[in-house]
Amino acid sequence: MTTILGISAFYHDSAAALIVDGRIVAAAQEERFTRKKHDFDFPAQAIDFCLHEAALTPSDLDWVGFYDKPLQKFERLLETYLAYAPVGFRSFTKAMPLWLREKLFLPRVMQKGLPGVERRKFIFAEHHESHAASAFFPSPFEEAAILTLDGVGEWATASFGMGRGNHIELTHQLRFPHSLGLLYSAFTYYTGFRVNSGEYKLMGLAPYGRTTYAELILDKLLDLKDDGSFRMDMSYFNYCQGLTMTSRKFHRLFGGPPRRPESPITQREMDLAASVQAVTEEIMLRSARHLHQVTGAKNLCLAGGVALNCVGNGRILREGPFERLWIQPAAGDAGGALGVALLIHHQLLDQPRDVAPLDAQRGSLLGPAFTDDQVERFLKSCGAVYSRQADDESLCRVVADLLAGENVVGWFQGRMEFGPRALGARSILGDARSRSMQSVMNLKIKFRESFRPFAPSVLRERVADYFQMRDDEDSPYMLLVAPVCEARRIKANGQGQGFDQLKVVRSEVPAVTHVDNSARVQTVDPRRHALYHRLLTAFERKTGCPVIVNTSFNIRGEPIVCTPADAYRCFMATNMDALVLEHCVLHKTDQPEAQRVDVDRYKSQFTLD
Ligand SMILES: [Fe+2]
Repeated sequence: MTTILGISAFYHDSAAALIVDGRIVAAAQEERFTRKKHDFDFPAQAIDFCLHEAALTPSDLDWVGFYDKPLQKFERLLETYLAYAPVGFRSFTKAMPLWLREKLFLPRVMQKGLPGVERRKFIFAEHHESHAASAFFPSPFEEAAILTLDGVGEWATASFGMGRGNHIELTHQLRFPHSLGLLYSAFTYYTGFRVNSGEYKLMGLAPYGRTTYAELILDKLLDLKDDGSFRMDMSYFNYCQGLTMTSRKFHRLFGGPPRRPESPITQREMDLAASVQAVTEEIMLRSARHLHQVTGAKNLCLAGGVALNCVGNGRILREGPFERLWIQPAAGDAGGALGVALLIHHQLLDQPRDVAPLDAQRGSLLGPAFTDDQVERFLKSCGAVYSRQADDESLCRVVADLLAGENVVGWFQGRMEFGPRALGARSILGDARSRSMQSVMNLKIKFRESFRPFAPSVLRERVADYFQMRDDEDSPYMLLVAPVCEARRIKANGQGQGFDQLKVVRSEVPAVTHVDNSARVQTVDPRRHALYHRLLTAFERKTGCPVIVNTSFNIRGEPIVCTPADAYRCFMATNMDALVLEHCVLHKTDQPEAQRVDVDRYKSQFTLD
């Protein structure tokens, strides 16, 4: 038996992943345990969970992989600092303590965190190799082109190459400071959102705007080549030498200082979002076309933070030259933990790779699970009022009824998802046909910005009835955006301006139809997500509609819930109507007043994202 632990840490989204004889046994992000979003500390609890899952102790491990090379990263920081000295000194000293403390002494930190593991068992891979490995090895392809698009690792900010059998080879890279991820983050910062977490908001905001600044971006900020590579004019950016992303010259070019976080969003931010999104999509498409030309491959695997840009992914699939696409669900740095473990197994140890027909990611349900008995013990201990359903069928019937009655339901089942999207294991669900659901869920449940769209889960076998996707196209990990079918749209409703566009009912499933008639689709199939598929089937049987709203089980700034206790607290603090923990069903109106959680106190635990 070969056991390999992968770790990513000390940048953002620390995580651990365990593979045993090449099979992915467990993977989780540290934030879910510590309840600190994007926690970047050494992932002690995630490691404990992974080892516990396979009944191992640290000394049983054959290898421990780390997802990047700290010394090379240090060298980049140092060189960048020297190039910009003395103006860069402030950011350097600010970045230094963490690097000195953790990164440079990483082997020591790892040894302390993993007592009993000898130093010779530690392996450090390159950042982009880890991303590439996480994209290709679990994919359903014997052979595929690989593209990683990211902020920055050691030096590379994007890379491409090929994967064949049990081997990957990266042949090209784009190097710091020229970076699509950092370009997107610069606009995230400039429009008043938080870098490394607000990128999703910017993508959600883009459809409200016009691409009026796209030409300016292409003219002034970048020199974009046909092959998707580019150079950035660094006089507009500040991330090499300062603590901010954009420079004064950037602010002059776009007509003002960055938006203050939480201040009103204007048409200008919407237009900036639309513009940088359009440029990003163009770069993604050009890169994909070039990669296809060079490799001639039929399939493409994607990873790196930019691969979470599901609008860009959808365009690569629809307009790009590749027949099939597979994207690592944990495309950001958390997925590097899984990538490095797989890289050691296949590439270093030369172990064969069995190509799984679906993929080897196991629905990305790789986190902790809790039994009905554990759930009941917990519920009894806090005096919760609940009923326990006898089996899956009655459970799904009861929950389908609740959803059809426009109740918002917290749905907690089986193993927690690995990756930023909730896929029906730690989800909040609602009726996609409801006209009020989008605003109710944003404002009363998740306490987040009203403009943010919600995503649909749809029965895999009915996806083409509702969304412009081919019958044979999967999106099991909610990483592709597709237009709602013309036939499901409602016409002659006016368009609206700015956020008024939100009020327009655009389709039969308005809660999941964004203002540009698009939707971030999760296709639900019985092999990856069996119980969830059963729930959707029960809902369809009752209503005729195979689509529901699926959003992550958390409020703004909170990591997705991990345990029944996390879920119960979130349920009691928000306006969720019902909570389903395994087979136990709770109604809010039945719960003892004393257990209510003060909303403001609950919210104040989490930093706004
Ligand atoms: Fe990365």
